[in-house]
Amino acid sequence: MPEMNSIYSTENHSQMENALIAIDEKLDNDQAWQKFKENLLPYKNVSLEHIVKEEEFWKLIRTTYKLEGPVININHGTINPMPEIVSKALSAYTELCNQLPGYWFFEGFKGEKERLRSRLAHLVGVDTEEVSVQRNTSTAMETIIFGIPLNAGDEVILSHQDYPTLIYAWKQREKYEGIKLNWIDVPMPTENPEILVKAFTEKINSQTKVIQIMQMFNWNGQIIPIEKISKKLEGSGIELIVDGAHLPAHLLTNVRKDGSHYWGASLHKWLSAPVGTGIMTIQKDLIPKVRPMMGALDPESGDIRKFETFGIYNIPLELATLKALDFLEIIGIKRKTARLHFLKSYCLERLAEIKGVNIHSPLSIDFSCGLGLFSLNNISPTDLQKILFKEFNIYTVGFDYAGISGVRISPNIYHSISEMDYLVDSVFKISKQVV
Ligand SMILES: Cc1ncc(COP(=O)(O)O)c(C=O)c1O
Repeated sequence: MPEMNSIYSTENHSQMENALIAIDEKLDNDQAWQKFKENLLPYKNVSLEHIVKEEEFWKLIRTTYKLEGPVININHGTINPMPEIVSKALSAYTELCNQLPGYWFFEGFKGEKERLRSRLAHLVGVDTEEVSVQRNTSTAMETIIFGIPLNAGDEVILSHQDYPTLIYAWKQREKYEGIKLNWIDVPMPTENPEILVKAFTEKINSQTKVIQIMQMFNWNGQIIPIEKISKKLEGSGIELIVDGAHLPAHLLTNVRKDGSHYWGASLHKWLSAPVGTGIMTIQKDLIPKVRPMMGALDPESGDIRKFETFGIYNIPLELATLKALDFLEIIGIKRKTARLHFLKSYCLERLAEIKGVNIHSPLSIDFSCGLGLFSLNNISPTDLQKILFKEFNIYTVGFDYAGISGVRISPNIYHSISEMDYLVDSVFKISKQVV
């Protein structure tokens, strides 16, 4: 086809590459982005201990999230908003794609996608060839759950407190293939690693092939010591599937060191990437045996890209994640972790002083970070959530799931201490009416 030939000529190629470079330059030189970075410079050498409570610094971070309206969003465990530079990247890649969509999808963006793969590998501590870009934790984890070859009678240890979408997937395998699900209830909150290791390993028997673990429980923020569990499994042949939904850009993550064989997470949570971005990693030597959920030319290939045969999808959305990674680097993962942990702990410690309030989360940094759960006597979590939203303009999430019941708080780094005080004072006012 002559038209196609002209597009793939050397001259056109370099024109296209220039268009891509121009996007990078445009974003890097964006005035607001430059100014934002400049404003943070004076804080470069401030120690971790001090920066964590340096309200002026976090106020500056807030300026780049274009948040309007009266509602205080204390539910970032579901989705984070994008900072301005990520929204701009999304528009820029979308506009470029719009010029010649087929070309950009099949050809032009390929290099950028590989750059993204490599940066994500670095973020979570695995090899580039072990990373697949997915839509969210559910697609990442379900690709693994449905893809691992198991026979009728093989057992999987999982917990009642696992995320619903993953439970649905396992139940389907149980129903149609006769896989046996061996359920546990994780005793939490706890700061005792032995209790947690025992919970996940005491039901192991000769049929056990897989253990699934949520690395940071979305319900109450409980962190599970994955490395300790994987060490215990060494030589057993049992494989570890880990739901790391809340890890990227929340905690320093090293999937390989932890010893997870299979791992999935969302990037639209703490990384602040566009909604609909996720990551899956599979230990290199295990890739060939995992069957892709969407058909691939060679389903037994060892190429991780076999899990990306989605047909046409929104690639500009994925590429904007590159800017979310830049944004994280500007702030620094250690600072981010420390701030998230500080705000959550500050809030829970103050809430604990209110008569009738119960805390359901660990507090130490080894077992928790930015997610916390509390309840108030004589009122259901969903009613408490509703009152906080309707009467106090505070958005949280309340639930009662698998024995875990409460209102979850998940502030973002840019929240002020006074906003945390406002939340505590609001709960205090409600407690005066119900307790
Ligand atoms: C621990 C955990 N796993 C899985 C999921 C599913 O994530 P997604 O909705 O991005 O697929 C969530 C979502 O909140 C979660 O918190």
